[in-house]
Amino acid sequence: MQHKVLILDFGSQYTQLIARRVRELNIFCEIKPYNFVLEDTSEYKAVILSGSPYSVRGEDVLHPELKNIKGKLPLLAVCYGSQYLAHFYGGKVAPSKTREYGRAHLSFIDKEETLFENINDGSQVWMSHSDTITELPDHYKMIASTKDVENAAYKIEGEDTFAIQFHPEVYHSTDGKKLLENFLVNIAGVSQDWTPNSFIEETVSELKEKLGNDKVILGLSGGVDSTVAAVLLNKAIGDNLQGIFVNNGLLRKGEFESVLKQYEGMGLNVKGVDASDKFISALKGVTEPEQKRKIIGRVFIEVFDEESHQIDDAKWLGQGTIYPDVIESVSATGGPSATIKSHHNVGGLPDFMKLKVVEPLRMLFKDEVRRVGKSLGIHEELLGRHPFPGPGLGIRILGEVTEEKVKILQEVDSIFINGLKEWNLYNNVWQAGAMLLPVESVGVMGDERTYEKVVALRAVESTDGMTADWVDLPYEFLRKTSNEIINKVKGVNRVVYDISSKPPATIEWE
Ligand code: XMP
Repeated sequence: MQHKVLILDFGSQYTQLIARRVRELNIFCEIKPYNFVLEDTSEYKAVILSGSPYSVRGEDVLHPELKNIKGKLPLLAVCYGSQYLAHFYGGKVAPSKTREYGRAHLSFIDKEETLFENINDGSQVWMSHSDTITELPDHYKMIASTKDVENAAYKIEGEDTFAIQFHPEVYHSTDGKKLLENFLVNIAGVSQDWTPNSFIEETVSELKEKLGNDKVILGLSGGVDSTVAAVLLNKAIGDNLQGIFVNNGLLRKGEFESVLKQYEGMGLNVKGVDASDKFISALKGVTEPEQKRKIIGRVFIEVFDEESHQIDDAKWLGQGTIYPDVIESVSATGGPSATIKSHHNVGGLPDFMKLKVVEPLRMLFKDEVRRVGKSLGIHEELLGRHPFPGPGLGIRILGEVTEEKVKILQEVDSIFINGLKEWNLYNNVWQAGAMLLPVESVGVMGDERTYEKVVALRAVESTDGMTADWVDLPYEFLRKTSNEIINKVKGVNRVVYDISSKPPATIEWE
């Protein structure tokens, strides 16, 4: 059985990063809320306690259930975790005298300590805390200090329990990953066998067992997640997977046809449903962005429901949910998706939403989905695609959406995106697109004055879309692209480039 590591989440902004680092070591791990009760110690090989925005001295202190963990399994406590094990086991934690945020340097007490193997004395670590451990309980042994933090790391004698005040998971802790490896591999004996191929093998065999001869319906979008989910399901159940790809009329130019063709080439059983007219007519006269989103969502559900009724005895609904969505909905404080779900009235759900749900990617981070996709032989071009919003060009056409405006924007977008590819800029950009603005401006073409549309180009770099910065595209590229757009796209006489970061702006304009 594959070794697993348990991460208990006390709500730190860095908890996901701990999981990322562990996965980078080819070790499988799961994040559970801080109050998760571990019944069976054989399920995990090691446990990590995360940091927290809470204080162990506060009224709303978060208490984990450590009965089957501390002293029974190798345990690494980070930041809050470290203070928790000191404060509630006979030591003392007090407010820090100096602010302890950012860079610090470790000074080891015992250079032979396994936790610090192959890490140099003086190694840079990242601190982020306002409490500090002033006194350790009996049988606790300090193993490292920094200039401002005496008990920067300790271990508990007679146990495989280690604690560190700093954050090994952030990139600024130079040897953080090494430290995690020392703990997980050298101390806890966890094997490093979590690879895309092992994931594929295990997932396909689990899916086979779970689904048997059942039929699964899956909505495909041309995006990375739904495609990888489809290929995994197809490997497990073949044509019992019925994919549905809906053209909402708001996709990029030629996208519907080219993506369907790619799916076909991959041997996937996918039905393309062109419902463009339904979407465009439902959007007639609507200008408010949130209302547009709701209409697009509603029509999608109607179309998908209609299609799924045509598939006899489907038992399952496949979804391309990935790990960050899962973590958010089970996070210590109850993430926003938990709230959204509670608003659903089960009786009022469309039929396909009453199917059992199968989510083959629910344990993977985005880049892991890409790695798995690569191992599955999915084309690089599909795996490296920029994210594209569900409501598509509908939220990039500011104001009312019409068929004519969609056509204009598709042309503009296609020139921009193809240009990025030709100039080898596409992969340096996280997301790019064009917005059709609801203003007309004066121009001159030949001897004629024109009064035509303005488009804005946007290209951003980001890691998760939460924050983003505009990309410094070469002037020469912008000059050429702008020229091409104005010369080729009838109805556009002005091109601007968006140089706003997020925050305070957002990536989309609506
Ligand atoms: P913003 O505009 O909020 O976008 O900075 C962040 C990321 O989310 C995408 N986005 C959406 N995706 N439905 C989606 O599926 C939506 O309504 C939606 N709005 C924004 C956006 O493209 C970017 O990647």
